[in-house]
Amino acid sequence: MSDVVETKNIQITSDNIFEIINNRRSIRKFTEKPITDDVLEKILGAGIRAPFAAQLYSIVYTRDPEKMKKLKIGTYSSTQLLMIFFVDFRKIEMIINQRNYNYDYDDGMLLWLGLQDASLVAENLILASEAYGLGSVLLGTAPLQADLIAEVFNIPSRVFPVVGLCLGYPDTSFETDVRPRYPLKYTAFEDSYADLSEQEIQECMKSMDKGYITQGYYIKLQAKVPLKKGKDPIGYDKYSWSEHQSRKYSQGSWKKEPLLAILKRHGFNLD
Ligand SMILES: Cc1cc2nc3c(=O)[nH]c(=O)nc-3n(C[C@H](O)[C@H](O)[C@H](O)COP(=O)(O)O)c2cc1C
Repeated sequence: MSDVVETKNIQITSDNIFEIINNRRSIRKFTEKPITDDVLEKILGAGIRAPFAAQLYSIVYTRDPEKMKKLKIGTYSSTQLLMIFFVDFRKIEMIINQRNYNYDYDDGMLLWLGLQDASLVAENLILASEAYGLGSVLLGTAPLQADLIAEVFNIPSRVFPVVGLCLGYPDTSFETDVRPRYPLKYTAFEDSYADLSEQEIQECMKSMDKGYITQGYYIKLQAKVPLKKGKDPIGYDKYSWSEHQSRKYSQGSWKKEPLLAILKRHGFNLD
């Protein structure tokens, strides 16, 4: 651990990028310690230093628990500050108009670039917030609540939520672990994609499942995905990461309305 460094009022807990990256884990319980404007400005500033395709993003944040609740995106109750990262076509279109051009591009591709831009900003900001001793967890269902988010935060057409981020100082009484990943050799391939064999896939599953079960991840979160049909044969002692993923993505969409329809309602031309 590197020394604690004081810069003005901000306490940096680590300035070693590898230490920050390798120890980061999602935090879902926070203390009541507020995030000062000073720290907020620093982490936002670091966020927007991410590489960008066309700065196709905006961030809206709130410290208001009532607003957080209204969004229905699974915000953890002790969250001190909630951020939503948006794909933002509006600003670039205004710039184009200022220069007396008219927008004419594939909305699908621009959306893709916007997702890339917004995701990079989010990760930069997450790592910067870790450096200041903050913890965070992303909320991936934000796009499904685009209507509510638009209402609460006055979001115009052609601006669309990518992901939410709960932030706060970690409550250390709630233990968290560094979560496993697939073995690197099954993730990064030189020169040619390696289509994994059944056995290699099983190795991937094993590396994840063993870690999540040993760490009691789902027991602590009480986060089993219920089966839509039949009795659940698996107790929490055997409920694994691969079982969780399988249940999540094999029983129909979370919301009846497909994401594409929601995107179209928010002004994106994706036909
Ligand atoms: C795009 C994205 C969406 C996520 N959505 C949620 C979510 O809605 N709720 C939640 O508790 N965690 C969410 N997570 C956190 C993941 O569960 C977590 O990153 C993963 O289990 C790995 O654990 P780690 O972040 O501690 O390494 C999300 C993560 C990502 C990258």
